[in-house]
Amino acid sequence: MANVVVVGSQWGDEGKGKIVDWLSERADVVVRFQGGHNAGHTLVVDGNVYKLSLLPSGVVRNKLSIIGNGVVFDPHAFVAEVAKLRGQGVEITPDNLKIAENTALILSLHRELDGFREDAASNSGTKIGTTRRGIGPAYEDKVGRRGIRVMDLADLDTLPAKVDRLLTHHNALRKGLGHEEVEHEAIMQELTSVASEVLPYMDRVWKVLDDSRKAGERILFEGAQGTLLDIDHGTYPFVTSSNTVAGQAAAGSGIGPGALSYVLGITKAYTTRVGEGPFPTEQVNEIGEFLGTRGHEFGVVTGRKRRCGWFDAVLVRQAVAVNGIKGIALTKLDVLDGLDEIRVCTGYMLDGEKIDYLPASQGAQARVQPVYETLEGWKETTAGARSWNDLPAQAVKYVRHIEELIGAPVALLSTSPERDDTILVTDPFQD
Ligand code: GDP
Ligand code: IMO
Ligand code: MG
Repeated sequence: MANVVVVGSQWGDEGKGKIVDWLSERADVVVRFQGGHNAGHTLVVDGNVYKLSLLPSGVVRNKLSIIGNGVVFDPHAFVAEVAKLRGQGVEITPDNLKIAENTALILSLHRELDGFREDAASNSGTKIGTTRRGIGPAYEDKVGRRGIRVMDLADLDTLPAKVDRLLTHHNALRKGLGHEEVEHEAIMQELTSVASEVLPYMDRVWKVLDDSRKAGERILFEGAQGTLLDIDHGTYPFVTSSNTVAGQAAAGSGIGPGALSYVLGITKAYTTRVGEGPFPTEQVNEIGEFLGTRGHEFGVVTGRKRRCGWFDAVLVRQAVAVNGIKGIALTKLDVLDGLDEIRVCTGYMLDGEKIDYLPASQGAQARVQPVYETLEGWKETTAGARSWNDLPAQAVKYVRHIEELIGAPVALLSTSPERDDTILVTDPFQD
């Protein structure tokens, strides 16, 4: 039985939400395994727009949706998102949504620390451009073994000591940064006030997944962010604080890696990035403006304008390798409709030498210069195409060329934000 892992192969916002929603029709279970509500996944179903940050995109189809232990979970953001989606008619109950008991929590002090650091860094020109959701600080506390976890909400006797331990660390930090200390009572109140809204969803997720796997059900793992934002493999330090690569699907949900059979890399037909950091093919010119306007490239979470540029085959080829991507879902091809020429980066120049990979060091990443190939564009429209035969010959040529450059085939092709404007080439669940 095939289980599918969906990951972003660039800097996020590749269209993972749309593809996960489309694929989840074929799945029984949809699992988030890293990240938190820094993610922003947009689904469009018959003109209705759903924006998800923390909940797996499978909830919209009423599939069993799971928040795995690799996620950092803001309970108040969770309650707000559930209410918003219920308002849109999505059914969310403890029967169709489960949260791993060992998931680390994001608290207000994490969000504040994220903001304090970004503000301070803005003045010194070293900011990351985070989503200010407290993602990094929450992962720091998890790895530092002082985090509060979902299960702790059910054990009010041991909670005060855990909060004390956490505050010893945070109040020292806050004092050092010149901010007021946090009261023990305030954090206790923040946690106890939300416990009854979270605990009904808490479950032994590794067991739920083990049962599901044994029953032969299909599990779809929904990655957030993208490979170049991975804490190890990305453009460090301009990354998020989790492993975003496919291998994390196992550790971040409690299933063996042997259960992950098909890795689908979601890949935009050009490149975007939100926040600071290197971006070799960025176009700060009318091309970048064209892509941003045509592609509606504004962040779902922060509303920030996304930086835009040409397709970078070097990065995606590297993402294919580090994730074990078997096939890609190519999205937003329609955004390129009407361009006279389309450029694709096939390698870099670094200090006078041609290289075919993204170097690991921050300095070298900032220095690489893209080497482009120029392809002819197409005048016809691909927007809304639902069959391969509807695509202009030149668009097919572009797609075939990308496949060759990255060393992976196109399994799905997306031609608009709408759920059904999707062309299936190879079914990841059957392959
Ligand atoms: P995610 O974070 O990877 O889920 O991606 P986002 O939802 O943040 O950003 C992708 C945006 O592109 C969303 O607004 C989608 O509705 C939209 N989108 C997805 N696929 C396509 C496509 O094939 N064509 C166009 N024009 N828009 C798309
Ligand atoms: P989806 O799932 C694009 C970026 C932020 C910042 C960096 C660190 O929608 O693809 P963080 O708040 O995670 O500490 O910020 O990572 N970032 C994203 N960029 N899409 C996302 O998610 C992102 N999640 C985080 O802009 O540069
Ligand atoms: Mg997004």
